Amino acid sequence: MTQDELKQAVAKAAIEHIKDKLKNDTIVGIGTGSTTNFFIDELAKIKGSFDGTVASSEASAQRLKSHGIPVYELNAVDRVTVYVDGADESNDHLELIKGGGGALTREKIIAAVADEFVCIVDASKQVGVLGAFPLPVEVIPMARSHVARELVKLGGLPEYRSGFTTDNGNIILDVHNIEINNAIELEQKINAIVGVVCNGLFAARPADLLLVGKEGEVFSVTRPGS
Ligand code: 5RP
Repeated sequence: MTQDELKQAVAKAAIEHIKDKLKNDTIVGIGTGSTTNFFIDELAKIKGSFDGTVASSEASAQRLKSHGIPVYELNAVDRVTVYVDGADESNDHLELIKGGGGALTREKIIAAVADEFVCIVDASKQVGVLGAFPLPVEVIPMARSHVARELVKLGGLPEYRSGFTTDNGNIILDVHNIEINNAIELEQKINAIVGVVCNGLFAARPADLLLVGKEGEVFSVTRPGS
C-alpha cells in the first residue's frame, strides 16, 4: 500500500468508528492536512447523517463546503461530539506533535472542545520519543525575535517558517532539536512565553484514540490505562 492508500484506509476506519455516534444534530470537528482531506472526502459520502462541522482551517472549510457539508463557526455550536485530525508525530501516550500544516491553534481549540479526539495517521508518524519532527510554535509577528531567544533558552533551535502566515495572521517558528522528555511540562513552558499563541504539542489534551495505517491494516491504539 502507498502512503496515500494508508491515509485513505485510516480515514475510512475513522468513519466506521464515528458513524454510529452521528445523529441529525451532531457536529463533527475537522482537522487539517492530507490525511484529514481523505477523511473529509469519506465524510461527504454520509453527509446526511449529521448536522455539520467545525473546521480547523480555511483550507478544510473550503473542502467541506465543496462537498456541500455545512461548516459552522465554533462559537455557534454547543457541542462537538468528535474531532478527527492527523498528526506529525504520536507517542504511545497519544501525545502528539501537530502543526506541520500551520493550523495548530485552531486544531488545539477544537480538540479541547470535543468530547472525543480521534487521530488518524500512517505508521511513519508513530515514534518512541516526540521531537524528531520540528515543533511548530505560532507566534504574534512582533514577538518573533523574543520568542526565538526564549526557545533557545529551552534548548531548541527555532527556524522561521518563511513566507507562511497562519489563518490567524501570525507566524510560525519550527523548533528543531528540542528534547521532549515531559511533553505536558514543555507544552506549558512554551505557552508561558509572552508572544506565543500556541504550540504544536498536544499533551495536556492528547488524542483519545489513534488509528494507525500499517502494512495494509488499520490498528487502534488507546492511552495506557484508559
Ligand atoms: C496541520 C496538522 C496536520 O494534522 C499534520 O501536519 C499532519 O498532516 P498530514 O496528514 O498531511 O500528514 O497538524 O496543522
